[in-house]
Amino acid sequence: MKVVSNIAELRALLGKWVGNSSSIGFVPTMGALHKGHLSLISRSIKENDKTCVSIFVNPKQFSPDEDFDIYPRDLDQDILTLDGAKVDLLYVPRLEEMYKPGSLTVITVPVIGDILEGVYRKNLFSGVAMVVAKLLIQVGPHRLYLGEKDYQQLCVIRQMVDDLDISTDILACATIREKDGLAISSRNVRLSDQQREVAPLLHQTLLEAAEAFDNTGDELVTAENSTRKLVERGFDKVDYFSICDGLTLGAIGPKTENIRILAAAWLGNNRLIDNIALSTILTRTAGGNNN
Ligand code: PAF
Repeated sequence: MKVVSNIAELRALLGKWVGNSSSIGFVPTMGALHKGHLSLISRSIKENDKTCVSIFVNPKQFSPDEDFDIYPRDLDQDILTLDGAKVDLLYVPRLEEMYKPGSLTVITVPVIGDILEGVYRKNLFSGVAMVVAKLLIQVGPHRLYLGEKDYQQLCVIRQMVDDLDISTDILACATIREKDGLAISSRNVRLSDQQREVAPLLHQTLLEAAEAFDNTGDELVTAENSTRKLVERGFDKVDYFSICDGLTLGAIGPKTENIRILAAAWLGNNRLIDNIALSTILTRTAGGNNN
């Protein structure tokens, strides 16, 4: 595996591969790699001639009160993991390479980026949009692999790629879960034993909400009941529990077919997010009822 840390080296290598008509798959990460990342990487390896992975803990997507300083980092272990996974190229840009002093451009994706996570994490999506746009311009991949675990991030990046006419296909990959249903995340290492026991109940509550919504067709009451249930089950605070249109993440309309349930809840200082698709396509009336 080649490891590069500047744009010139990156472009030289990728230019050679593209010149030989190789297709390039790209998996952007912030490191602390886990089974979720590896599932994106193995799909990219299957579907492309060459796979490039980036590791960059992007300061722009953290607000000052968030966990940038203590975000898990283990570059040596990550390099071993990626080498073992047969990745072709690892790009580890330096901070000053990514954000040159004096740069002024900002990218924001309003509306879809302002709701849900955007309400609680003010810098998240402008930071994600900026770094992913830059990485896509630098790497120029044919395919970009993103996990559904960060479902709103996926929607924001789709919108940004479409708005900016970036000619990369986006492939959404299913969330990888522990046996008990907990969505795998780099931040799970911070859960105490007791929090780790409660954590899978987030997924469990999403599944129960899907069933309740399927029966009643009432997204607001289902969300309210689910929020209460999460607190009863040991979560300290629920930022949101939303049953919404899976494309816009806004309110469900009578014709919405793609429905998503997303939630964010706290266990002590740890904030967990998760989401599921509502697989059943409901035939609902304009009032939002499926009776
Ligand atoms: O999901 C992540 O790890 C990050 O938000 C991403 C997409 C690599 C951008 O920094």
